[in-house]
Amino acid sequence: MAESKSRIHDGEQRPEDHFDSALRPAYLSEMIGQTQIKDNLKILIEAAKLRSEALDHVLFYGPPGLGKTTLAHILANEMTVSIKITSGPAIERAGDLAAILTNLHQGDILFIDEIHRLGRVVEEVLYPAMEDFSLDIVIGKGPAARSIRLKLPHITVVGATTRLALVTSPLRARFGATYRLDYYDIDSLIAIVQRGAGLLNIEYNGQGVEEIAKRARGTPRVALRMLRRVRDYAQVRADGKINGPVSKAALDLLNIDVLGLDDLDRRVLLCVIEKYSGGPVGLNTIAASVSEEPDTIMDVVEPYLLQLGFLERTSQGRQVTRHAYEHLGIDFRDNNTQQKLF
Ligand SMILES: Nc1ncnc2c1ncn2[C@@H]1O[C@H](COP(=O)(O)OP(=O)(O)OP(=O)(O)O)[C@@H](O)[C@H]1O
Ligand SMILES: [Mg+2]
Repeated sequence: MAESKSRIHDGEQRPEDHFDSALRPAYLSEMIGQTQIKDNLKILIEAAKLRSEALDHVLFYGPPGLGKTTLAHILANEMTVSIKITSGPAIERAGDLAAILTNLHQGDILFIDEIHRLGRVVEEVLYPAMEDFSLDIVIGKGPAARSIRLKLPHITVVGATTRLALVTSPLRARFGATYRLDYYDIDSLIAIVQRGAGLLNIEYNGQGVEEIAKRARGTPRVALRMLRRVRDYAQVRADGKINGPVSKAALDLLNIDVLGLDDLDRRVLLCVIEKYSGGPVGLNTIAASVSEEPDTIMDVVEPYLLQLGFLERTSQGRQVTRHAYEHLGIDFRDNNTQQKLF
C-alpha cells in the first residue's frame, strides 16, 4: 500500500485527504503516542505562553504518515494562533515567500511542509525572517541597488520533512527545537484505530482492531486507511461489524501480510534476493528493477524494512537479512551457497 512520493508530497489534495483532516487530533491531549514529543511540546507551549511570546521555531522529521502535519495544526490550536500552510516546492521565488511573510500576524505559524525542497534563494530570505524577524528587500538594479530591511511580526516557522539529511545546516540551526517522529507501537495504533472507528461510527471488537493495528507498519495514516478498507469489506461481505476474521480476510485480500508488508515491500525484498543474491545493491538499482521512484523506496519502503531488521544499509548498498528470508519462506543457506558459486 505504499504511495508514490509524488502522491504524498505534491501538495495536491488526495482523494482521502478529507478523512485525514476529519480524523486528525486537534489538541495534544487527543494525540495518541509520541509521549516524549508531546511532553517536550507542552513545555515549549507553556513557556511561550508564560512569557507571552511566539513559540520557538519547530522542525519535525520522520517517515510519512506519523503525524508531522497533525502536530503543526495542534501547535496552532494550542497557541490559539492562525496557521498558514505551504511547502518547499510551492514557494518558487523569494517574492512568494516575502508575500507570505508580510501577511502574517504576531504569533502566527507558518507551516512549511517538505522544507528540504526549498530553493536556495528562498531559503536565504527565510534566515533573517526566522532569526531577526526581518525581511531584506533589494530595491533597484545595478550600482543604484540598495537593500532595505523590513520588520516582520514575531512568527513561528514549523517545518516538516521526511529527509532531515537534505535540510541544509544553516536552516536546521535556526530551529529552536527539532523532533524525530518514530513508528508507533501496537498499543498506540490500537488506540488510534479505536478512536477512528468511534469517529466514523463503525462497530468493532478488540480482535478486529488489533489485526489492523498489527499490519499498519507503525503508521497512523496506514492504520486509518486500512480501517476504511476493512469497513468496506465488513459492509459488503459481512454484517458491517469489524471483528478478527473480517479484518484478516479483508487485509489478506489486499495482499497485506501479517507484518504489514505489501506488494511493493515484497517486490523490493525479492528483487534483492533473486537478482542480486541478497545484496549489497544500490538503491537506484533496486528502484529501477521494481520500476518505482527511488524517493518512494527511500521514504516509504526502506524505513519500515530497516525497522523490522529485514534490510541493512552497508557502505556498498542495501542488504537483505536472514530475518527477511525467514519471513518470506526462502532458505537463507541456499541463497548464500548460490552467492559463493557465482
Ligand atoms: N498520534 C496520532 N493519533 C491519532 N491520529 C494520528 C496521529 N498521528 C497521525 N494521525 C493521523 O494520521 C494521518 C496522517 O498524519 P499526518 O498527515 O500528520 O502525517 P505526516 O507526518 O504529516 O505525513 P507526510 O510526511 O506524508 O506529510 C492523519 O489522518 C492523522 O489524523
Ligand atoms: Mg504531512
